[in-house]
Amino acid sequence: MKTPIRWTATLAAVIALASFISAAETGAVAPIDGTPHLRRQGSASQLVVDGKPFLILGGELLNSSSSSREYMAPIWDRLVAQHLNTVLAGVSWELIEPEEGKFDFQLLDNLVQDARTHKIKLGLLWFASWKNGTSSYAPVWVKRDTKRFPRVRLQNGEGPEVLTPLSLATADADAKAFSALMKHLRAIDARDHTVVIVQVENEVGVLNDSRDHSPLAEAAFAGPVPAELMNLFVQHKEALAPELGQVWEANGAKTAGTWTEVFGPGKPAEFVLTWDLPEPQRQTEWRKLHWPVDEIFMAWHYARYVNRVAEAGKREYNLPMYANAWLQQPGCAFPGTYPSGGPVPQVTDVWREAAPSLDLLAPDLYVPEFAELCEKYARAGNPLFIPETSGGPDAGRNLFLAVGAYNLIGFSPFGIDRPVFPQPAAPSASPFPPTPATGLANNYEVMAQIAPLVLAHQGKDSITGFALDKDHPSFTTTLGGITVEISLDDLFGRKAEKGYGIVMAVGPDEFVGAGTGFRVIFRSLAAGSGRIGIGTVDEGVYRDGQWIKGRRFNGDETDQGRAWRFNSWALAIERCTVYHFDCTVP
Ligand code: DGJ
Repeated sequence: MKTPIRWTATLAAVIALASFISAAETGAVAPIDGTPHLRRQGSASQLVVDGKPFLILGGELLNSSSSSREYMAPIWDRLVAQHLNTVLAGVSWELIEPEEGKFDFQLLDNLVQDARTHKIKLGLLWFASWKNGTSSYAPVWVKRDTKRFPRVRLQNGEGPEVLTPLSLATADADAKAFSALMKHLRAIDARDHTVVIVQVENEVGVLNDSRDHSPLAEAAFAGPVPAELMNLFVQHKEALAPELGQVWEANGAKTAGTWTEVFGPGKPAEFVLTWDLPEPQRQTEWRKLHWPVDEIFMAWHYARYVNRVAEAGKREYNLPMYANAWLQQPGCAFPGTYPSGGPVPQVTDVWREAAPSLDLLAPDLYVPEFAELCEKYARAGNPLFIPETSGGPDAGRNLFLAVGAYNLIGFSPFGIDRPVFPQPAAPSASPFPPTPATGLANNYEVMAQIAPLVLAHQGKDSITGFALDKDHPSFTTTLGGITVEISLDDLFGRKAEKGYGIVMAVGPDEFVGAGTGFRVIFRSLAAGSGRIGIGTVDEGVYRDGQWIKGRRFNGDETDQGRAWRFNSWALAIERCTVYHFDCTVP
């Protein structure tokens, strides 16, 4: 029987943190054979579907698209043409349980069937108690009943239409609906595994305040920090993200106390409201935020709630599950200007402790600091999945970087059914048409070809992924025992402005690379006269995993034998062999 992996990591300290989170504690059912699950390979975590590692080359539909089979009918073929292998689609509480206890799974059944017809996998997004911090997807019978399902209250006494995460009654109602969904899903999909991953809620957190001030929240905030959370700081402080550990240390590293005793009263920060208010009120309403204590408090309570929902669902059908984060955006630095309590980097440790049923925490990654955020979300063994991002001009660069350097398990630009995603050109008669390095579809096509190889190398020291530009023009690393210097391509003094790719050592003195705008120079590890030369460079394609050779590259294409090159005007897959020689022998 396979055991799902969760927060395992390479560092001993992190392993210690992870070790107390087990399937037994979550009550989760271990996956039956073939059921999608996460598995460790070296330093990577991979999604495994039908016993094989699977890289999600995905796209997330606009929020309302999956509510109509007819709307979706012409979309599927476009998604196939863009080389997507997975679609992330919303499934809402309001449509699944329009009346309490009466479930309707027709839309879900159709979605699964249509995805199967098009050989596309699905990720389901459980839009339920929260979507972007609000509760618009809760059914009307929940919205109407403010007594049974209490709301958040802001510091000015206002009660927005947002469910408080401190209500167990609401969590249980949500969990009941979610477990019915997962039970039904198991009944229709346990054999086919069309659905490979499930998101629980969407971008949770309080907006317009740094915390909930409802009576339930006030009582909890005045009480002690729960022992489990305290234990995280006391027992596992070396494994914590520095930004969280420092908050605790700076306040005297206390081992017990109320939230403000342990994490400090916070620095009040004034900010002007940006959400939900009409002009000119927006400009005039100011709030005081208490950071970071409020965010840690909210993170704990949202994570407990989401865990309750996820745990109930996993008891019925144990698919990989995650929560996604609305990140701090430029100009919105304080919790409340982005949802306070969501799984943002400074509180992901709190989420891990509170939500062991989740397999990973995922960034909705629209900000320009792409690599920095990948780094943060790949910390402590968290499998990196990007459920939302922009599919714009940087999509290819970001995809190759995250897959090759951060062991990404899936990439999914938002709004994939919008016509802004261009359709790829009609298939060419040649098996080796030059593929432009632009557009999501071209990048997915090339990534799909190398995916089996990439998945075999992720987590090992035989792969590198990178993005180069004028600020990061080159780097050196070791692959298969050979030092390689990878830099922006440069031929006859004409330097590429940008480049990206993945390079793998696939056998002794044999390499495969894919990407654009870079060159590789081989350097021997050993000091002395031994040198490494480029033996052969071939372009090619993979068809059903088989390498089909195209042109033999030499002359300008290898800078007269000096470098293994990837032109900046194309996105290519190339194989290179090297040889060793002694240049001192006359
Ligand atoms: C992030 C949300 O998670 C999505 O559902 C959608 O609202 C996008 N933002 C819009 O950019």
